[in-house]
Amino acid sequence: MKNVLITGGAGFIGSNFINYILSRKDDWQIVNLDKLTYAGNLENLKSVERNKNYHFFKGDITNRELIDYLFKKYSIKYVINFAAESHVDRSILGSEIFYRTNVIGTNVLLEASRRYNIEKFIQISTDEVYGSLSEEGYFTEETPLSPNSPYSSSKAAADLMALAFHHTYNLPVVITRCSNNYGPYQFPEKLIPLMIINCLNNKKLPVYGDGLNVRDWIYVIDHCKAIELVFEKGKAGEVYNIGASCEMKNIDIVKLILKKLNKSDDLIEFVKDRPGHDRRYAIDSTKIQNELGWKPEFNFESALDYTIEWYIKNKDWWERIISGEYLNYYKKQYGDL
Ligand code: NAD
Ligand code: TYD
Repeated sequence: MKNVLITGGAGFIGSNFINYILSRKDDWQIVNLDKLTYAGNLENLKSVERNKNYHFFKGDITNRELIDYLFKKYSIKYVINFAAESHVDRSILGSEIFYRTNVIGTNVLLEASRRYNIEKFIQISTDEVYGSLSEEGYFTEETPLSPNSPYSSSKAAADLMALAFHHTYNLPVVITRCSNNYGPYQFPEKLIPLMIINCLNNKKLPVYGDGLNVRDWIYVIDHCKAIELVFEKGKAGEVYNIGASCEMKNIDIVKLILKKLNKSDDLIEFVKDRPGHDRRYAIDSTKIQNELGWKPEFNFESALDYTIEWYIKNKDWWERIISGEYLNYYKKQYGDL
């Protein structure tokens, strides 16, 4: 059995990853540790909650005693650290929790991993640590880190710390840096789900600045498959960029969503720009393609269609989020656990 501690598994990417892995592997024992912040939602994991290889704990990655208890009880040999405060706009409104979770939390996990001699620690990072590109060029693993937001600076700090633990203690750390994800279960504060839901509700679609900022989009399952490969074959001390070469201007995505939902462009509202808004992200993922044999499988248009369909079919899921009712699910399902 592979005993894997997954942190932040009730969030968007973590829950997609757990659902994906448990639907195809029976030699993984997954311990999911999640604080269930506003972004954590156990409804995302309904299909696995009775799986004998799945264990959920509500708790904070900064809690050293709890982490110690889990490592011991489940003989943890692998860690995949998804847990993070993940939204740039929230980090601009208040940064402290970002450094507490993303930096201190990662430190607590790395220290425990050191004490328990684990076999692999995967730090789920982001292309945002590289900063912003102008119209030319791509992020490679050699691009110097130059984070611009409190969020990305906290992720960059965690990356540097993880690499230092490899260098100093020979801890088998691997870092993945992925571009912007989209797909089912994404919290509706991020661009794509926010725009889909506002469209469905005939609400205005707020586009920051001139709408010409570029993001490089990847379907969440392509990201999950890349992490699975890194888990199996990634080399300690290495960084792997993950991206599907799908650059889009924000305004073009917004217009595409409007078109797919037969709504008028009049719903678009240009609003005040995000402070320090990174202009362009674009990932070069040659290394993971050549060294681990990964390649993206999903095409943007069809995966976006599927994502839109998912939000139409799962109106209850996001209505419960918007109303805050989803927070009651945990209590109903798990009582005071
Ligand atoms: P998310 O906000 O949807 O989920 C984060 C999860 O972490 C939530 O379930 C939350 O409850 C949990 N969490 C937060 N603080 C915690 C703490 N102190 N202890 C335990 N759990 C805690 O985020 P996401 O979009 O799923 O992102 C997951 C990871 O992937 C993050 O590390 C993020 O930086 C990285 N990432 C995200 C993207 C993207 O496009 N969403 C792209 C690249 C990398
Ligand atoms: P977001 O989904 O927050 O991801 P990130 O900032 O981590 O890339 O935003 C994606 C892009 O969409 C980014 O350029 C900001 C822009 N954006 C808007 O124009 N309006 C919005 O309401 C949001 C949430 C984002």
